Amino acid sequence: ASTPPSLGGIPLKYISLVTLALQNSALTIVMHYSRVSTPENHTYSAATAVLLNEILKGLISLVIAFLRLDSSHDTMPASYSAIQRAPPSSQIFLGRVRRLWRDILSPDCWKLSIPAILYVIQNNLQYVAASNLDVATFQVTYQMKILTTAAFSVLLLRKKLSPTQWLSLLFLAIGVGVVQIQSGNAKVPAAAGVHSINPLKGLMAVIAACFTSGLAGVYFEMVLKNSQADLWVRNVQLSLFSLLPALAPVIFVQRTEATLAGESLFTILFRNFGAWAWLTVGIQVFGGLVTALVIKYSDNILKGFATSLSIVISFLASVALFDFQITFTFVLGSAIVLIATWLYNQQPTRVSMVMLKEPLN
Ligand code: C5P
Repeated sequence: ASTPPSLGGIPLKYISLVTLALQNSALTIVMHYSRVSTPENHTYSAATAVLLNEILKGLISLVIAFLRLDSSHDTMPASYSAIQRAPPSSQIFLGRVRRLWRDILSPDCWKLSIPAILYVIQNNLQYVAASNLDVATFQVTYQMKILTTAAFSVLLLRKKLSPTQWLSLLFLAIGVGVVQIQSGNAKVPAAAGVHSINPLKGLMAVIAACFTSGLAGVYFEMVLKNSQADLWVRNVQLSLFSLLPALAPVIFVQRTEATLAGESLFTILFRNFGAWAWLTVGIQVFGGLVTALVIKYSDNILKGFATSLSIVISFLASVALFDFQITFTFVLGSAIVLIATWLYNQQPTRVSMVMLKEPLN
């Protein structure tokens, strides 16, 4: 069996999971703060943030996909091979661009349109939720995506979970709930009172986001693991298909707003788009890339465990940064989350992935 990819001897699987846990904590805090620290009519446009996220992620994936092209496929024009001279680098470059273009526009690229649309909806819902719920409530209720993900993995990937793994999922949900009892009182300072919040709207958004997260993640995993295509090419395809739904609110809503206000679309798009907004987008871009790695090198269910660990991390960060008290319920909840994670990994799924017999078309 081939050795799993690693960095400095540590399997990439674990590096990506821990990185994702840290990224998730940072994103929850920064996104919430970026939305509620200013009065409602001074917040930046979530549609712009989602669009920028897709453009930046797509561009980064494009560069990585290009750099990963196998040089052994570089074709040498007959005129060059005949006289055994290396072709000019511009020839090699153009050849690779053409090859990458062909990979991106492969006949099965349409498969990415489904997770792309779901992720754009989810990324917009996340802003609604983060604007209407406090950090702790948002983070904990968002963990329900672990259960939707497990359900979709069983349904679509025919993944078999052992009884121990089902039990660990239950423990995880309980642990998350217990941490919530504690963290319910611990709100990250968010300039309370500046921004009116609507918890019911936030809750609806987060529940819908849990469904799109589970379905999109599992669908992406299915496409990725049922073909030989490079992860970064898949990411470019995902971003390309995301552009249309991400552009829709910009074209239909923001353009009308710009016309009514007599301002340019650019001004409307980037109104109030300050450092916190850019930081949110940056962390989200990074998160999208790490998520793709996690889905490739482990799976969506383990991804859920990484994000639930992020609850513990954000709470510890709040203790360090904002002087919160660690209580017994917090330690208990975190311990249950950690034990659940350990338990899930005790019995690796025997039939971890039953490849679909029928290709996805
Ligand atoms: O909450 P969840 O883990 O489902 O969030 C996944 C996030 O990762 C979404 O914001 C999605 O846009 C992003 N993603 C990505 N590229 C992938 C898979 C997910 O950017 N290949």
